Amino acid sequence: MAEKFNRATFTKNFLKNITRIKNPDEMLEEAKSQGLEKTLGVIDLIILGVGAIIGSGIFAVVGIAAAGAPDGSTIGAGPALVVSMIIAAIACVFSALCYSEFATMIPVAGGAYTYTFATLGEFAAWMVGWVLMLEYAIGFIAVACAWSNHFMQFLQGFSHILPAWLSNPPLWLTNDVFTVSKMVSDNPGIHVPTLFGIPVCINIPAIAIVLLITAILVKGTKDSAKMAGLMVFIKLAVIALFIIAGAFYITPDNWTPFAPNGVEGIFAGAFLIFFAYIGFDALATAAEECKNPQKDLPIGIIGSLIITTIVYVLVALVLTGLMDTSGSVPLEFLKAPMAYCMTLVHQNWAAGLISLGSLAGLTSVLLVLEMAATRILFAMSRDHFISKRFQKIHPKFKTPVLLTWTVGILAVIGILTLNLNVAAELCNYGTFTSFIIVCVAVLILRHTDPNRKRPFKVPFSPVTPALGIICCAGLMIYKSMQASSSALLFPVWLGIGAIIYLLYGFIRNRDNENKIHKQIVHGKEIK
Ligand code: ALA
Repeated sequence: MAEKFNRATFTKNFLKNITRIKNPDEMLEEAKSQGLEKTLGVIDLIILGVGAIIGSGIFAVVGIAAAGAPDGSTIGAGPALVVSMIIAAIACVFSALCYSEFATMIPVAGGAYTYTFATLGEFAAWMVGWVLMLEYAIGFIAVACAWSNHFMQFLQGFSHILPAWLSNPPLWLTNDVFTVSKMVSDNPGIHVPTLFGIPVCINIPAIAIVLLITAILVKGTKDSAKMAGLMVFIKLAVIALFIIAGAFYITPDNWTPFAPNGVEGIFAGAFLIFFAYIGFDALATAAEECKNPQKDLPIGIIGSLIITTIVYVLVALVLTGLMDTSGSVPLEFLKAPMAYCMTLVHQNWAAGLISLGSLAGLTSVLLVLEMAATRILFAMSRDHFISKRFQKIHPKFKTPVLLTWTVGILAVIGILTLNLNVAAELCNYGTFTSFIIVCVAVLILRHTDPNRKRPFKVPFSPVTPALGIICCAGLMIYKSMQASSSALLFPVWLGIGAIIYLLYGFIRNRDNENKIHKQIVHGKEIK
């Protein structure tokens, strides 16, 4: 006879299942038996870190953080941008320390997702993995859109030698649908093809770079790190050029009023410019590919964050010293602030080099973001949240080939439907959430597993993780109080994630448990 449904037992079992924790030792064992190739040393890590961090944040988003968005949706910090930069860096540093503790303790692929599985259980782990897709996959889309803007600007610099179809192609072939819709409403004379009244937009440069990066990543992690190394060198060189050349033209009057939009402007700037720091955590997702994670990962994570903060503060000082950011600014400044400031002081040669360097910078960020997205999905597939097929490793290149191409193709779909600002803000929401969870997870594991070997320990715990939680939650809550599309889309994203888990991940995991149970009962060897 069928067993009678008992609500209390069902609820108890359900709660037990969704809070099922994965033992870190089991994770280490799995990584050993099915892991990725170990090729990364400390220098590779610092290069990957700086490669992941310095990108569209400092080359593009910084303009909006300083002067506000043209449609008034975000107010700017003005010269107080330097304060916003420091606030965002502080919010990151606490989390970076927590990441280091985890990355050295459980050096397996997956980053925050893996740490959550070890502390908060199955459902929370899936949700963190899902949220991390906002950070890495949606961030990947945001940076690809910025790359396209910079590439077109670069080509326009050669309009006198290039054919018009290349240097000045139709808007709908180089922009997203939101940007084009806004341009068409501002200037109804612009012609774009439409489908059911919606402009058809295919951002070809963004799609092309996504496909190229995907192909490079499939070829191998070590090759990607080498390529990122070259890009990092180029972007640091052009930023140094901007700081040194720009310093000679600073007009101190531009620094007053220092905070034209007061504290509100400073926090709005800090929320937005946080995007510029995202990426150091991506190093933790590559932990399984490190030769000596215990020693090298903390140096890689904290080192790349320190280098970036110094660079950003200097850029903020020079940028706001060259340009009056207290009032309205031209659109060109918002698209490529550093290059624009150089043309303002008639240093066009420097502007050209900066455009080229920003392309290199954005390319290296793209490499690391896509790599991080695939490594998290790899770990999630290992845990039965997505199909096992995605674990297939290329026999020659030793990379997750199907997964990497899947992320690439999904990013192309994203490019057709999202725009830079919304993608960057969504990416920030995802990142803040994962940072908060990592800080919480450090506190929990210190309590539940105090004797586990911790090659790196967060100093002054629990104060440091608590400060990380307060800083990230504060900025996120502050932004949520302002009505914006990202503030609405974020809860929708969480809701979709929860539904997918209940309809797929939860069931797959129970099926797997039943399979293992049957194997044990029949005395078969478990693979
Ligand atoms: N920090 C990365 C960038 O600024 C995401 O592009």
